[in-house]
Amino acid sequence: MFEDLRSFIEGLEKAGELIRIQEELSPVYEIPGAIRQVDKRMGSAVLFEKVQGFSVPVVGNLLGRRRRLALALRVPEEELAQTYSARRQRLIPPQRVEHGPVQEVVISQNIQISRAIPVLTHHQKDAGPYFTSATTLAKDPVTGVRGMGIHRIQVKGDDTLGIFLATPPLSHFLRKAEERDQPLEIALAVGLDPITFFSSVVWAPEGVDKFEIAGGLAQQPIELVKARSVDLEVPARAEFVLEGSILPHRREKEGPFGESTGYYFSFDNPVAQIRTITHRRNPVYHALMPFASEESVLIDISWEMDHLKMVQEALPKVRRMHLRNLGEIALLQIAKDSEGDVAEIFRYLLPSNPFVKVAIVVDTDVDITDPQEVEWAVATRVRPQQDLTVMTDLPGVMIDPSTTGGERTARESLLITRTSKLGIDATVPLNERERYEKIDIPEAVKARVAQIVSKYERKG
Ligand SMILES: Cc1cc2nc3c(=O)[nH]c(=O)nc-3n(C[C@H](O)[C@H](O)[C@H](O)COP(=O)(O)O)c2cc1C
Repeated sequence: MFEDLRSFIEGLEKAGELIRIQEELSPVYEIPGAIRQVDKRMGSAVLFEKVQGFSVPVVGNLLGRRRRLALALRVPEEELAQTYSARRQRLIPPQRVEHGPVQEVVISQNIQISRAIPVLTHHQKDAGPYFTSATTLAKDPVTGVRGMGIHRIQVKGDDTLGIFLATPPLSHFLRKAEERDQPLEIALAVGLDPITFFSSVVWAPEGVDKFEIAGGLAQQPIELVKARSVDLEVPARAEFVLEGSILPHRREKEGPFGESTGYYFSFDNPVAQIRTITHRRNPVYHALMPFASEESVLIDISWEMDHLKMVQEALPKVRRMHLRNLGEIALLQIAKDSEGDVAEIFRYLLPSNPFVKVAIVVDTDVDITDPQEVEWAVATRVRPQQDLTVMTDLPGVMIDPSTTGGERTARESLLITRTSKLGIDATVPLNERERYEKIDIPEAVKARVAQIVSKYERKG
């Protein structure tokens, strides 16, 4: 495995997957703006060598293409989903080490977060700098079980942060700490090896340690070192770790922040105080751009495979599932053999999955990962009068502005608003298969020309 962020950056450079920008750019809007353009124009990862006001370089769009996640797992891109599913079965516990490079430099006095770390201000109406790639680590105050996830974190003062804690397990840990009138100790790890970073947002039943998932995916234990000022263990080779506590019962306005859904949101959110910053010598800061490709790669493979497993348990005729727009659009491929199959999918999926707002079901001759193919199926196979299903008053996602109700206050769940939902049946009627036969070229010919064409292929 690539054991840390810096060795992954080297690996990306060797693979021709990284560009370096030498001009000095500001962490306020300029670096985020450049990351978005690099993502759209060439898709590579990007290292900003000179960051205005800092001696710390910034790397962005790290996992912005699936092939870079495949590189992190050291498998070909075509084997990504299958490798994830296979390795996800195995949990390998982390290994405790005595010393970690993340503690080469320890700052425990005069904490000034936005002096030490080039935290970016991403969008023009953002309230200030936001950590977007920080993995928040904490322990269940009752059971001691570890939990972690990515949460948006606003830098509010020298040592003060606002944290959007609306998903379990961490939101449950905070509730339990508050029931005891205690602070919740946290550590924020920034600049992780790509597999631990990816694993921190894998769907996991509460109680499962995501470091064990990371170990399974990496096929070796992740090294952890004891934090300096909180009772937690942190990734030994992270670039930065911030240690501190979430204060009990305190809520303050956090935001606006331009979210993963492409809109600004503010909430009344918990407040954290940092008492120690540790970092490596010559650290690198990892920026995760909201509403850009890296977020999709992070969730596509894991959320897709884990949701597909759940859906297939109820509906075995579903063959594949592809999520777009943070899962609000779900594309499903089905081997339909009865006309009621698609309605059954809508009845199961739309009420039970708060993320999915629009479900589109297609036949097995449609590649659900190719938007053009899906549009083709919608354009030519949907008969709007009979193929659309609308369901009302179902659970929705708080960071979708079209959802209503609930309080837009982070409590324990991101999923407290209400919305109507749409099911689109883009499958062919069973008794009309012939009329809908998709045009094609003989398989043997396709295989032969594929070999010839691939010699001329350039990386997109
Ligand atoms: C890019 C990204 C940003 C996220 N931001 C937040 C956030 O600000 N607040 C939050 O409560 N959850 C956020 N999440 C979700 C949590 O990280 C979530 O717990 C995790 O994805 C799923 O793991 P779980 O099964 O342990 O909940 C974010 C997820 C991703 C992928």
